[in-house]
Amino acid sequence: MTTELVRIAVGLAQQAGALVAAGRDQAGGDPAALEVAAKTTPTDVVTAMDRAAERLLAGELRRLRPDDAILGEEGAQAQGSSGVRWLVDPIDGTVNYLYGLPQYAVSVAAESGGAVLAGAVHNPASGETFWAGRGTGAWLSVPGRADQRLVVTGCDRLDLALVATGFGYDAALRARQAAVVAALLPRVRDIRRLGSAALDLCFLAAGRLDGYYETSLHPWDYAAGALIAAEAGAVLSGLRGRPLGAAVAAAAAPGLALALFGLLEDLGVG
Ligand code: IPD
Repeated sequence: MTTELVRIAVGLAQQAGALVAAGRDQAGGDPAALEVAAKTTPTDVVTAMDRAAERLLAGELRRLRPDDAILGEEGAQAQGSSGVRWLVDPIDGTVNYLYGLPQYAVSVAAESGGAVLAGAVHNPASGETFWAGRGTGAWLSVPGRADQRLVVTGCDRLDLALVATGFGYDAALRARQAAVVAALLPRVRDIRRLGSAALDLCFLAAGRLDGYYETSLHPWDYAAGALIAAEAGAVLSGLRGRPLGAAVAAAAAPGLALALFGLLEDLGVG
């Protein structure tokens, strides 16, 4: 079953990616053409393309896997009887998308019995598709090139670690997140805030980062990326003995995990 779920996840992420990229091209330099509306705060936005891509994803899933459940960032929801549930984020990194920054992705994951079995994260701007099935290893597909197996870095020093994080949209939450970053920055090689949790996790898988953490995510932000990172050898944690989840998603190369997770706990994360 995993192979079939991976095939669908990759195909749908690429199909929805083509749609949102075409929408971005049509808008050109005019963000108003993207029909933006505010969600939880004025800075948390949804574009017409988020909604169109989620409709495409939900519609195709209904057609291909009518017995599966669906949960999408922009409200798509369907009950199912198969035990498989799809978690879809039509555009992870919507603010980057809005500004024309080439750092956004469609994320599609399939879970069953509480475990993610398949995940695909497609960045239409780079043409990269990161994907994994449980037990398949993690892979990067780029048109015209052979698929590349992904492996995390061998980093084992906190002071040499490149660590990514992200921030929520709520101002009070951001103030707490900023305090953690301020204490972490002098202890690591550097910090990155790239703007897409899904891509952060895939970049960790690809050895472009040594570690990543974020608080207050949603399952569609990290479901596919966390599987891809784990299949590339990353250690995942929710800190303080908990599994990675919406409250805390922490992930790191194995040599770094203990030191990074310990420091984050000391800084009050989780
Ligand atoms: C956001 C991105 C961002 C992260 C936020 C997410 P969205 O998702 O993943 O990197 O820091 O916490 O909400 O809103 O672009 O789908």
